[in-house]
Amino acid sequence: MDRQPDYMGHFTYRNGEMYAEEVPLSALAAQYGTPLYVYSRTAMRRQFERLKQSLDTIRPLLCYSVKANSNGAVLRTFAELGAGFDVVSGGELYRVRAAGIPADKVVFAGVGKREEEIEYALKEGILFFTVESESEVRQIARTAQRIGACARLAFRVNPGVDPKTHTYITTGKKENKFGLDAERARRACAEAASLSNVEVVGLHLHIGSQILDPAPYGEALCQILPLVEEWRNRHSTFRWLDIGGGLGIQYRLTEGSMNTACYAETVVPLLRQTGMSIVLEPGRYLVGNAGVLLCRVAVVKQSHHKTFLIADAGMNDLIRPALYGAHHEVCPVRQVAERLFGDLVGPICESGDFLAKERELPAVGEGELLAVMSAGAYGFSMSSTYNSRPRAAEVMVEGNRHQGIRERETWADLVRGERAWA
Ligand SMILES: Cc1ncc(COP(=O)(O)O)c(C=O)c1O
Repeated sequence: MDRQPDYMGHFTYRNGEMYAEEVPLSALAAQYGTPLYVYSRTAMRRQFERLKQSLDTIRPLLCYSVKANSNGAVLRTFAELGAGFDVVSGGELYRVRAAGIPADKVVFAGVGKREEEIEYALKEGILFFTVESESEVRQIARTAQRIGACARLAFRVNPGVDPKTHTYITTGKKENKFGLDAERARRACAEAASLSNVEVVGLHLHIGSQILDPAPYGEALCQILPLVEEWRNRHSTFRWLDIGGGLGIQYRLTEGSMNTACYAETVVPLLRQTGMSIVLEPGRYLVGNAGVLLCRVAVVKQSHHKTFLIADAGMNDLIRPALYGAHHEVCPVRQVAERLFGDLVGPICESGDFLAKERELPAVGEGELLAVMSAGAYGFSMSSTYNSRPRAAEVMVEGNRHQGIRERETWADLVRGERAWA
């Protein structure tokens, strides 16, 4: 199992058929239908343990980033391993609480938190808010005062480094909307320290996503270490250093996942010298390669220079290829030797509706199953009902056990909540 590419996760071929752990994908398709998200619980647990072990000398709080895959069964899997959680909305906090997970290991980020979300988080007793503007400090302080709570704040600092990833998932450059530059962060922090009902507890960084080289993390940490030292001396309550997520995974054979040993080699010496309690917010690294989107080819269509495999999954199910030009490997569930050149597309009325474009694909016929790999992160959680297509079902596998963890939506779900104009 260890010799196969990372993007295969715990998906393997046996006698020419792809399995999720001990369960044939064809059996899951027959029972749950397609399109279907299939997750390996073992792969999720393994990734968590691997990261934890690499960093065991600093014993960080690993806050799983809920946005990557917010299904309650996934959240509970990480809660059992001792994870905390990184949320960016009241809805994500609600999901964590609905999964029966206490709020005291939850950190709440995001540039535009609403007053009711702040109030909800305060009442639930989260660990801290990360704040991204001076105005937000006042807003949180006002809400805390109104309800007689104390809000713990960590200031998100934008270190101005380039993590060399896709522009849309770069967050720590000066032109990005996220965080405060060091000078503004100083002013915001000083203001917070003068207010009642808030406490300055930490500093937060998150430089981007799908980062494969640890160097930018080292660069970002070096940028902010003087500020950490300054605040540590100034505020007795200052103890958390949250270095965000962003650790990348293998989407194609020509790249590797973030090497957690190299990551640790870069960040641990820098983190150690701060004497702070460390938080990480990994999302993709924990779940990305642990999931596939299983779909069935409905139509094979020839055009003059390529073949279209038209599947029953589209950009509403997995938007990453359309949104970022992201690459996902496409594997046949029943192995075939032949390849064809073409696109794997969905049934949606957009030319951007593709899951793979102008590449070599398995030469499968109508009715055959395909697995779109590395779909465990930002797959279902970014899916929509565009073209009034009910969202896919999700299933979790562990060993030879499998369980539906989200029902397929129905046409009735599409119109639920709508009201006729009277
Ligand atoms: C503040 C913050 N933390 C953590 C993450 C998780 O990133 P990743 O899934 O790349 O680890 C994100 C992703 O957007 C984020 O914005």
